[in-house]
Amino acid sequence: MTQVKSNKPKVAVIGMGNIGNAVVANLVKGNRSVIVADRKIEKSKELAKKLGALVQPMEIPAAIKEADIIVFAIWFSAIKELLHQYAVELEGKIIVDPSNPIAPDDKGGFKKIIGESESAGEILSSLLPKNAKLAKALGSLGVASLAGAAFQNPEPAVLFYATNNTGINAEVEQLIRDNGFEPLRIGSIDQSIRIEVFGDLHEFGALGKTVTIKEAKEKLGEVSIAG
Ligand SMILES: NC(=O)c1ccc[n+]([C@@H]2O[C@H](COP(=O)([O-])OP(=O)(O)OC[C@H]3O[C@@H](n4cnc5c(N)ncnc54)[C@H](OP(=O)(O)O)[C@@H]3O)[C@@H](O)[C@H]2O)c1
Repeated sequence: MTQVKSNKPKVAVIGMGNIGNAVVANLVKGNRSVIVADRKIEKSKELAKKLGALVQPMEIPAAIKEADIIVFAIWFSAIKELLHQYAVELEGKIIVDPSNPIAPDDKGGFKKIIGESESAGEILSSLLPKNAKLAKALGSLGVASLAGAAFQNPEPAVLFYATNNTGINAEVEQLIRDNGFEPLRIGSIDQSIRIEVFGDLHEFGALGKTVTIKEAKEKLGEVSIAG
């Protein structure tokens, strides 16, 4: 297999479901190498076969060890488990959480599985391995828009993110740009609820659609972007 060299931090996507597949396909379009892992290695191998040499399939422990940035494209409860299971391997890494803490309700919709005023981002930030840095990112759109609105012309669509570690802004923003979107930090992890499902800045919340950077800033007003 051809090795693709890059100076960018190594990124791994864990979970080859809807979001994982969309993020990996976007990164390949953005010419970014990506390590892929799932609990079934066959899924990662299939994807690599389909998308080419930028995609490197690995088992989950190897992927976490190898990458600098780990995108957990899995459900909230599974992220909690993996943070615990791979606490040592995840030390010092950048962890990207796109999760929405929801489950199907009995009316064909979804309901939150944590408290109304809680966010997955804040809960995960309290469970972080030593020196790991968390960004809530890549989850503010539904999968159809994450795939369909990537690399939009002439003005890219926005993906919002939140982190307490402003030292990782550049890495997170590059990851979002390599996905074909314009990044916009809305503040610290305590703002996560705004960019999770039902939040005021989520496609499946009050925002209701994709927005360009101009529209996003108009919507937010510069003052409401928390430091
Ligand atoms: N779908 C959306 O529109 C959307 C939008 C924004 C954010 N999100 C968030 O993105 C995350 C992924 O959603 P999705 O729609 O991509 O889900 P999905 O299609 O169900 O995919 C989840 C993936 O996670 C894997 N997985 C589950 N438990 C795992 C574990 N313990 N270790 C490793 N892999 C595990 C699954 O593998 P198996 O096949 O083996 O179970 C599957 O490949 C969720 O947190 C969701 O809230 C989704």
